[in-house]
Amino acid sequence: MTAPTAAVRDRVISLPADELPAYVYDLAALREHAAAVRTALPEHVELYYAAKANPEPEILAALGPYVDGYEVSSGGELAHVRKAVPGRPLAIGGPGKTPAEIASALELGVERFHVESVYELHMLAELARRADARAGVLLRFNLAVSDGSLADSSLAMGGQPTPFGLDPADADTVVRLLTDGTYPHLQLRGVHAHLASGLRAPEQFAVAESIVTWATELAARHRIRIAEVNVGGGMTVDYAAPDQRFDWTAYGVGLARLAAAHPALTLRIEPGRALTSYCGWYATEVLDVKHSHGEEFAVVRGGTHHLRTPATKGHDQPCSVLPVDTWPHPWPRPAAQQDRVTLTGQLCTPKDLLARRVPAPGLRAGDRVAFALAGAYAWNISHHDFLMHPRPSFHFLDRTGA
Ligand SMILES: Cc1ncc(COP(=O)(O)O)c(C=O)c1O
Repeated sequence: MTAPTAAVRDRVISLPADELPAYVYDLAALREHAAAVRTALPEHVELYYAAKANPEPEILAALGPYVDGYEVSSGGELAHVRKAVPGRPLAIGGPGKTPAEIASALELGVERFHVESVYELHMLAELARRADARAGVLLRFNLAVSDGSLADSSLAMGGQPTPFGLDPADADTVVRLLTDGTYPHLQLRGVHAHLASGLRAPEQFAVAESIVTWATELAARHRIRIAEVNVGGGMTVDYAAPDQRFDWTAYGVGLARLAAAHPALTLRIEPGRALTSYCGWYATEVLDVKHSHGEEFAVVRGGTHHLRTPATKGHDQPCSVLPVDTWPHPWPRPAAQQDRVTLTGQLCTPKDLLARRVPAPGLRAGDRVAFALAGAYAWNISHHDFLMHPRPSFHFLDRTGA
């Protein structure tokens, strides 16, 4: 869905210009989407939200009834998420965890540690011993998936040389350390793998199946029982075809089959983007419309320092124009002469491109534009301070529009 919901549209139109740009989130739409995702999943498959996608406290809280926990990837996210949704189960992942981060995770009673290296396992064991704490461990592996399932992913963290997770060649060493009494403060709960982002349901399921198969073979080889396999996030959001959403129903059917084949295993997924992208809009106004070498450009208030997603992913951010008929200034109002207009921001770089050659005949300065799919990896991945423009305002709308 590219067009803003009615609540978002009303808010964007009614905001004074000096409160633009604005991030406007529709929490009712988020709840509805999260409920549909939850319904599509088998009852016993756990759903964790990867907070890195959007850690705004209102978003974390709105997701609360539909998720089993949250995945955090730093000490900062850990402290933030613990405060925003107290008492909810947390898993901490991420490469390069520092001793201070691990110590604070132990102190805060984080339920699961996604261990990314042999070194990290040694460190966690010693810090848990010193704190006299027990730490639940999922070993994150960078697994090779043989059938080309990752070929179409937008971002691969696994299946190739990367700094993420343990190399499968270390599997026997780390499992032995966790099962031969070397580290009594660590409890091996299972295996974790997040191999790629941007996968459609069939590929996502194929990846999940190969992770579970690999994990059960590992357990069988060591004659141990593992209780959990976390098959990661990465469900696609298609910015070029926003209406084609990830097929949660098909994925849920696959997971149900997988769960039935492994009844003693708790399966878990940890999506970010595909949960929250659709509930957020970055809204702004057109400041200027100009011609350059045969093309037309609209410069909007704000830019990729607020919404870096199109720059990082190299796509055109889907958007809708909300026309504003009043023009308060005594000087002439510029308007597009051609049918297609490239929307750029205020930064002094040609990379500040939000959407290229958008069909927007007659677009005028003063019209408003709402960029969709801005609920994930948007504000929180952007380089806010470049050029020191004002920050956007933030609006979290509920069903009433309040
Ligand atoms: C370990 C881990 N889990 C989950 C996610 C969430 O991925 P996505 O937002 O693509 O679903 C990421 C994203 O980078 C990740 O690194």
